This record gives sequence, C-alpha cells and structure tokens, in this order.
Amino acid sequence: MKQLTVDLGERSYPIYIGEGIISGLAATLANHKIGTKSPILVVTDENVAKFYLAQVKDSLEAGGYRVATAVVAPGEKSKSLAVLEDMITVALEAGLDRSSAVIAIGGGVVGDLAGFVAASYMRGIRFVQIPTTILAHDSSVGGKVAVNHRLAKNVIGAFHQPEFVLYDTATLKTLPEREIRAGLSELVKEGFIWDREFVEWFDANTDKLLALDSEALAHALYIGCGVKATVVSQDEREGGLRAILNLGHTIGHALEAVSGYDELLHGEAIAIGMVGAAMLSEKLGNPGSIAVETERILRKLGLPVRIPSHLDTDAIMSALMHDKKFKEGTMVFIIPTAIGEVEINSNVSSVWVREIVERLKGEA
Ligand SMILES: NC(=O)c1ccc[n+]([C@@H]2O[C@H](COP(=O)([O-])OP(=O)(O)OC[C@H]3O[C@@H](n4cnc5c(N)ncnc54)[C@H](O)[C@@H]3O)[C@@H](O)[C@H]2O)c1
Ligand SMILES: [Zn+2]
Repeated sequence: MKQLTVDLGERSYPIYIGEGIISGLAATLANHKIGTKSPILVVTDENVAKFYLAQVKDSLEAGGYRVATAVVAPGEKSKSLAVLEDMITVALEAGLDRSSAVIAIGGGVVGDLAGFVAASYMRGIRFVQIPTTILAHDSSVGGKVAVNHRLAKNVIGAFHQPEFVLYDTATLKTLPEREIRAGLSELVKEGFIWDREFVEWFDANTDKLLALDSEALAHALYIGCGVKATVVSQDEREGGLRAILNLGHTIGHALEAVSGYDELLHGEAIAIGMVGAAMLSEKLGNPGSIAVETERILRKLGLPVRIPSHLDTDAIMSALMHDKKFKEGTMVFIIPTAIGEVEINSNVSSVWVREIVERLKGEA
C-alpha cells in the first residue's frame, strides 16, 4: 500500500492507495478514531452499490459498526438540494450524531454530495472518501464539496476536508471504458500542470493504464493525488495557485454547458480544453511543440481532441464569457508554458480564443 499526506496543519489527512484495501475499512476507521458508538452513514450510487455496497456493509458490521446506507441515482442530477435533504432524513432517522461519520463510496458525484451532507449535518461531522473512479482522484482530495443549483454547478457547497481517502485500485476494474479514459484525462492533467516526468511516464505506460494494470494505476494515482495534495496544501481555499488545477477547464466547461452536459464526459471536455489551452500557448509565443505533444498523448488515451462540429461557435464564446452578449476583450486562462509547467494568464485575447475554438472545430 502507498500512502501520502495532504498537508493542511491540523486538518492534514492521509491518502491510502492499494489493491484490495477496502477490506480493511473498519480497521482504518478505528485507527482514525471513528468508533462504533455512533452510527455511520454510507452514501453511494446504484452502479457502485451493485458491486461494492454489500461487501462494505458486511465488513463494517463485522467490525461492530451500525451502518445506515443511502443509494442515490447515478449521475450529476443527484448533486441537488432535494437529494441532500433525503440524505439528511436518512441520517436523522438512523440517529447519526456529532460523533458520527459519513462515508462516500463512488465517483465525484457521490463524493461531492456526501461531503456536503457531512459538512452541513449538525454543522459538520466527519467524512471519509472512498473514490471508485479515476477522475475522483481529483474530487476526493482537497475538501471541495457541493451540490448544484438549477442555474449553476457546484454553487451550494463548502470546504470540508475528509479524515482520510482510501483508494482501492481493485474497485476501478468495473468502470466502463469511457469513464476510464475520461478519468485518465484529468490524471494526466496533473502532469501537464506540474510534473514533466509524470507526463513522460504516462506516455510510456498508456497501454498498462488503459488495461487497468494495478501497479501502474497505483503509481499514477499516487503521483496525481500528490500533485493535487501539494497544490491544495499551498492554497486550500483557492486564493491563487489552486486555479492551475483548472488547465483545460475554461474551454471544457463551456463545451459541457453548450452540449447540455450529456454529450461529453467531463474528462473528455477537459481533453479538448487542454489542447485549446496549448494552442493558445503557441499564440502567446511559446513553442508549438507543447500543443503537438499534448494532442498526441491525449489521442493515445483515446480521448477527443476536437470540438464536435455541431456545437455553435457563438454559443461556446458566450459560455466562455459567462455572458449572453458576447463582448470582446481579454480572458483568464491557465496556459502551459512547457510540458509540466503552466502560468495563470489574465491577458488572453478573446479574438484569439475564438480563432482557437474555430480551429478546434476544424474550421480554420
Ligand atoms: N470536489 C472537487 O474538487 C471536484 C473535482 C473534480 C470533479 N468534481 C465533481 O466530480 C463529478 C464527476 O465525477 P466522476 O467523473 O467520478 O463521475 P460520477 O461520480 O458520476 O461517476 C461516473 C460514472 O461511473 C459510475 N461508477 C463509479 N464508480 C464505478 C465503479 N467502480 N464501477 C462501475 N461504475 C462506477 C458512476 O455510477 C457513474 O455512472 C462532477 O460532479 C464534478 O463536479 C469535483
Ligand atoms: Zn475537472
């Protein structure tokens, strides 16, 4: 088992990564002083429940825990105030108190939702993350928890750090192939922003990663979580540096919004966005090889690197400007300045951005 620490003073916590380690959950809870006196709430979604809930519940009960479970529908729609209220009802009916804990087993949706249940129930109880997607290496570390509002994603939330993160690479074996590729997109992003060597390793190990080789996965998650942990410990509440984690997200979020959140997976939209950011980098005078390399590696992972041609350029530009009336001006972008290095550039011309959007649609 590998272990690393998210260094946040008194809110520091470990990330455990290894194959099969979910079977030791009860002992790990006990090590973290989450005792058996108060009931605990396990939150998951229907897909994950099918594979892992019975096993986890049995092993917790064998360890003496009283376990309440809440299984939500898979997908972004479960990150809602209505579902949050249902979770609070389950917690109240099960008698959770201030010494209880909430355990999230699932991808980013379950982690964000369950984390916000923990952050808000009785003004905050303890929380444990058991990520079961590759993308959740990002969402399970750093303490951002939230549900969505009808008008905007993630706007009802909190910073609430977990007690620990337990990443069992064996649980990733049941992921659909498209989710694997989308998760790897966000994982290689950690290399693009911070660690050239990791990008090179990724490039050399794409086959193993796509085949879910557990040693390769454990290494990649260890490095990826490490980058996230380092960035978060330098900027817990996103005052500045933490923004670099959003490489590819400016264009990516706009594509998700315009395509209606059901055409592209998050990691797929980010892949296209990372190519766009690298193309903008070239416009800003950096070497063209950054875009070439970025695109080559993302293609190798089987990720999309072009904007679906039916998405409207004006609609994408409006989404990028957060404004229905598209105004020309400058925009803030995370720009790669080399493979493994980025800068926050607040002086990117929207005319260039439009040019890149058109190029990504194959129109220029
Ligand atoms: N809090 C943060 O810092 C942060 C960062 C990045 C993303 N997020 C959030 O994360 C969410 C996306 O996360 P995600 O990509 O993990 O999506 P997800 O939680 O929807 O999971 C993707 C799909 O895989 C299924 N699944 C999960 N684990 C599985 C397994 N082991 N086997 C089989 N199927 C499994 C799920 O049921 C779902 O259908 C978004 O809501 C996003 O806002 C949060
Ligand atoms: Zn993301």
